[in-house]
Amino acid sequence: MLSLLSSLVSLLFLFLIPCLFITSYIWFPVFLPKLLGLIKFKAARDDHDNEKRDEGTCVVREEELQRELMPRHVAFILDGNRRWAKQHGLLTEQGHQAGAIRFIEIAELCFELGIHTVSAFAFSTGNWGRDEDEVKWLMSLFQHQLKSNIQYFHRNEIRVSVIGNQTNIPEPILQRIHEIEETTKGYKNKHLIMAIDYSGRFDIMHACKSLVKKSEKGLIREQDVDEALIERELLTNCTDFPSPDLMIRTSGEQRISNFFLWQLAYTELFFSPILWPDFDKDKLLEALASYQRRERRFGCRV
Ligand SMILES: *[C@@H]1O[C@H](CO)[C@@H](O)[C@H](O)[C@H]1NC(C)=O
Ligand SMILES: *[C@@H]1O[C@H](CO)[C@@H](O)[C@H](O)[C@H]1NC(C)=O
Repeated sequence: MLSLLSSLVSLLFLFLIPCLFITSYIWFPVFLPKLLGLIKFKAARDDHDNEKRDEGTCVVREEELQRELMPRHVAFILDGNRRWAKQHGLLTEQGHQAGAIRFIEIAELCFELGIHTVSAFAFSTGNWGRDEDEVKWLMSLFQHQLKSNIQYFHRNEIRVSVIGNQTNIPEPILQRIHEIEETTKGYKNKHLIMAIDYSGRFDIMHACKSLVKKSEKGLIREQDVDEALIERELLTNCTDFPSPDLMIRTSGEQRISNFFLWQLAYTELFFSPILWPDFDKDKLLEALASYQRRERRFGCRV
């Protein structure tokens, strides 16, 4: 065992010492932790998939779902990235990164299943209160995600909208957001909505302000105000299906946390104990099966 170890170590050095000369000393200490981090990150993501295979649990199959009962809009609260990172001994940023990768995977699955609109509460107004570095990193992650996925959005004809209070979003990111919204707005069948610096109360307040302005200009009167009019002022007016049929929140929290408030009035809620980066296809199918078993009443007695 010891000899095996020592030969391994010497082999490693034989490989590493030339590396030290080829590359600079400064670069090397930066590179190694990054590489180790990457290996750990990959292992953490694979870990979960392997564990599940071992369990061999019975899962819902895609064919068991009824296409005609698919929700048209599914909203997600992506919760648990930080806890996931901690659990795997990774950095918080890596948790968010794993969460972002997972979100694109899950959105893709939703679209394949015929769901029209997928929305995500990616960054709440309350998140500005977090550690400055984490916020900065989250912002650069959004920028990176938007940039690296633009081809994907076009190839799959996905319309992208970003909603929320945009005053605090750094200018380069805002520009990219507008660019993506503009170039994808013609796509009709798949709609991805990212709520960034969004809060349900902000949305309603924003709508009120807009209505008051219109009233001051004499464009509307009191008797014109109804639900449809308010709905047209909410930030979800960008989609054909502003009210989610199903909302999924991960990581065991059972709260709305100031996400859609008006829009969730008749939404079916699904809470999963799974941390978001581990929320995979099986979990999604499970949530959809649960949704399809429910009898929706929209406030009426049946
Ligand atoms: C939007 O964000 C800015 C900057 O933080 C803030 O001053 C403003 O009050 C926010 N708007 C609303 C309606 O919350
Ligand atoms: C949608 O809502 C936003 C925010 O209130 C508003 O600025 C915009 O004019 C609305 N769009 C339409 C088509 O009504």
